[in-house]
This record gives sequence, C-alpha cells and structure tokens, in this order.
Amino acid sequence: MTYRIDTMDTEATPFFKQENLQDKLKCLAEIAHKTKLVDRFNDDASRFDRYSLDLDGLLFDYSKNHLDKEILDTLIEGAKKANIQSAIEAMFSGEKINITEDRAVLHTALRAPTEQIPAELVHKITEAKKSVSAFSAKIRNKEWLGSTGKPLLHIVNIGIGGSDLGPAMAVEALSHYAQQDLSFYFVSNIDPTHICETLAKCDPETTLFIISSKSFSTLETLSNAKAAKQWLIDHLGKSEALGKHFIGISANVPAVNTFGIPTANILPMWDWVGGRYSLWSAIGLALEIAIGTDEFTQFLAGGHSVDNHLRTQPLEQNIPVLMALISAWNSNFMGADSNAVVCYEQYLHRFVSYLQQMDMESNGKGVQNNGQACEWQTAIPLWGGTGSDTQHSYHQLFHQGSRMVPLDFIVGVNSLNPIEDQQAFLFANCLAQSQALMAGKTKDEATAELLQQGMQASDAAKLAPHKTIPGNRPSNLFVYKKLTPFVLGQLVALYEQKVFVLSALWNINAFDQWGVELGKQLSNSIKSALIEQGDPLSCDSSTAGLINHYRNNIQAT
Ligand code: F6P
Repeated sequence: MTYRIDTMDTEATPFFKQENLQDKLKCLAEIAHKTKLVDRFNDDASRFDRYSLDLDGLLFDYSKNHLDKEILDTLIEGAKKANIQSAIEAMFSGEKINITEDRAVLHTALRAPTEQIPAELVHKITEAKKSVSAFSAKIRNKEWLGSTGKPLLHIVNIGIGGSDLGPAMAVEALSHYAQQDLSFYFVSNIDPTHICETLAKCDPETTLFIISSKSFSTLETLSNAKAAKQWLIDHLGKSEALGKHFIGISANVPAVNTFGIPTANILPMWDWVGGRYSLWSAIGLALEIAIGTDEFTQFLAGGHSVDNHLRTQPLEQNIPVLMALISAWNSNFMGADSNAVVCYEQYLHRFVSYLQQMDMESNGKGVQNNGQACEWQTAIPLWGGTGSDTQHSYHQLFHQGSRMVPLDFIVGVNSLNPIEDQQAFLFANCLAQSQALMAGKTKDEATAELLQQGMQASDAAKLAPHKTIPGNRPSNLFVYKKLTPFVLGQLVALYEQKVFVLSALWNINAFDQWGVELGKQLSNSIKSALIEQGDPLSCDSSTAGLINHYRNNIQAT
C-alpha cells in the first residue's frame, strides 16, 4: 500500500490553521456568550426566514443558534479559504481522499443516477444493483424457497458496525412500507445470547441468513455466522442447505466461499465504500427485501438529492456545510462538549445509534491529514434518542445542567399512524423543547409565577433559583412532511455529508478507523489467556488479575 498525503490542496489553508480567523471567531464567541438568543429573535422578526432552508421538501431551521451575519460570514469565509468546495469535489470525483488506506470514497456513486456515476464504476454498480433487486424480488415473491421447499419468511442479518447498524436502523425506520409477512432480525453482538435468542424465534425451514461483512474477517460476525450454520445443519441435516439459506455480502469472496456460501449467493462490496457508509450498497439488502426495489430506489434518490444540493449550492445556503460549521462553532468556540440528536418519530428509534458510528468512528481522530497532531478538538460525543421519551429521561440536563448541549431535533408533520391529536401533541412537544431551550425562564419570571400561585414572597425567593431556566441553548430543527424512503435517504446523507465537511474543516481523515484495531489485537491474546493457552503474566496486574478471576469463576458447561 502506498501512503499518500498528496491529495491535500496545497493552496488551501486548513480552517483551524487560519490564525486571524481563529482570533476573530474567539472574539465573536465571547460576544455571543453575552447575547441572548431570545434577544436575537426580538431584534429581528425575519430571523426564521433568514436562517431556515428547504431541501426538496425537508425544512432545516437553524435560527435558534448563536449566529448572526458576522459570525456566519466569518465561518463561511474560513470554509472558503480552506477550500471546502474542492474537498467536496475531490470526494465525488473519486480522488483517494482516504489517504491512510489509499482509497477513494465513493458511496455517493451508489445513489447517483447512471450518468453521474464515475465511468469505471458504472458496470459494477448497475450489475450489483440488478443482483440485489433480483435477490430481494425472489424472496418477496416466494420464488426463492428454502431447502425443504418452503418460502423464506425470517430474514436474519448477521453483521456488526456498518454491516448491521445501517440496515437495522433503516428496516425499522421504513417498517411502515415493509412487506408484512416477512420478519427481520439483526444479530451483531458476540454475546451468544444475541444469536441464541434470535434463533429461538426462527424456523430453520423458513429462515434466510444474510452474512454481511465487508472484510469477512470480523470475529463477531464470523462467530455468529458459524453458530447459525451449525443450527441450520442440525435442523435440516445437510450442508447443501446452506445454498438455499445463506447469502453473503462481502468484498472478500474467497473467505465467503470457504465459509460454505456458494459464489452465486454472494453480493459484492468494494474498498471504495466504507463500512459505515455502506447502507446504499448490497449491505442494504435486508432493507430492499423489506420495502422492495421501488421504495429502495426512492431511498437512494433521497440520498442523491443531498449530494446534488451539496455540490451545487453556495456554501451560504448549503445545509450540510452549515450543519458542519454550526457544529464546529458550537464545539470549538462556544464550549459545547457533546451533541445530541432527538428524533420525534418512533420509527427513527435506532437513528442515533446509527449516527454514533457514522460520526464518531469517522471523526474521532486526533491527527491531521499530514500526520501532525490536531491542536483543536475534533468530534465530540454524540448521544440522544426518541422524543418524547427522552423528555422524561434526560432533557432536565439540557435545560438546567451546567453544560451546554447543542441539539438537533428531527420531526415529521404527519404521522404514518394517526390517532386523533397525538401527532399534534408530538410536534408541539418538539417545538416546545426547542423553544424552552432557547428562551428559558428568568428568575423574575419564575418568582412572578410563584407569587401568582399564592406563594409567600420569602418562599418564592428561595424557590425561584431552582425554577430558573438559563435558556440560550442552541438547537437545529429538521422537519419533513411524512417519513418516506426518500426522506430517510435525505436524513442519512445529510449527516454523512455534515460529518465529511467537518472532517475537512478539522483537516482529518473521516474514512479510516485505525483506533479500533488495538482492542481487537489485545482481545485475541486475552482470549487465549482466558482459555489457558496463553500466558497472562506479561500484562499489567489489573488485566492479569481479571484473567485469573475469570479462570477461577468460569463454570464448566
Ligand atoms: O471494527 C470496526 C469496523 O471495521 C467498522 O468500521 C465496520 O463497520 C465493522 O467493523 C464491521 O466490519 P466488516 O463489515 O468488515 O465485518
């Protein structure tokens, strides 16, 4: 492998290396800390109009951020000087921007119309798409039968990380559009309980296993796949059954063959699609089986609408660029040390888990593209969940905790399952959270409220500080009309591109993940020590002590 750093634009000055810009943004942040968000709204009746954008029906409201014209202009000027636009084009044109692995980053080609796919990939992509559609149609139409002649109704995806989180999230998110006689399961954890509990729900005669692993060397996936294979053989008696019940998705065909899956049942992956960006590829098979090719095509179209927007819109009106700049502004200048995403949509129950890998495995890096340490903070922890549940769990911290947590709220106008006014209440909850975070409640307001409720002035004075809500806490809102495959494609691609633009601002490589390797190496030697083939004595006393504790307490099975 050649290690390349020559894809960097030598004309550009990385955002965080522009000293004047940094000084100016620090000064602006000091002023912004003293400026109330509520006053920004009071001073400008058209703030919402000025700081909201539409992307093919998806509304992005970023007005409740500590932004004004000068701050935005400064951020945009820095992004221009860092030549963010050429970084974006480098990705789309297939430059090897994943410099530590010498790879292009072209998951965007998977959702592009044919004429926009790089010429050398057109054949590969169109053939792969045809195969995925053919497999999914046969399963949906009951043309692909199990080894005993029964249709396949239990679809079990075995994979981890990007080979699990994307399809698991999307199948749940779009379950309203799914074929109802099929059940989907996602097994990822090496904890044997995961596969055992899943198999207990399945009938071997009607179960299809999709073994998803780009490398086909991931311990968790291979262990679970082996257990599934044994279960199938135990029940159906012959290993030829594998050809009817197993599909492999991988860039490593020989390893899939060695496992026992015939080549005819293998769908491709490529090194230019990162695991956490692979939902658009054959890794999306479970999704396409669930919703069918037409709806899957809509999902791809939603993703492409974002790519098109990213490439064509000026930075000032470019939603992923603004998302990235706002995030950098909040974390690098305004002092935020985590981000939260709250989806007011039950179908998006797994969206945050999916985003966590995409965001933190991509930008959890501390070294710049040129190998020097970053002198600035990079990705900050991302957390969140599903509103309104989260309101009754940890929103207290958002409102009155001593840390500022910038939020993204995601909400639909229409429910796919309307019941009386419930959707209006859900929407109201979402807006109220965003409004309360922004406006807060002053001590005077809290006191006046208590007095009005008939409380003695002395008691009101004691209680008011506890009822004061600082406000001034920033949030973005994404509002769609109704959750569709197109909208889900937009949401996923928006965050992908935000993460990419942030990596360009931070001057880091979003597409490798060397940090996860050390744990994998160590766990191999610890495992052999646990089963007494290896020597634990050469490690630290904590690890050695814990290994001994395991050995002393393991029960014979
Ligand atoms: O260990 C991290 C990782 O490599 C992720 O980046 C990836 O999504 C996951 O493991 C699974 O990898 P594979 O698809 O090769 O099994």
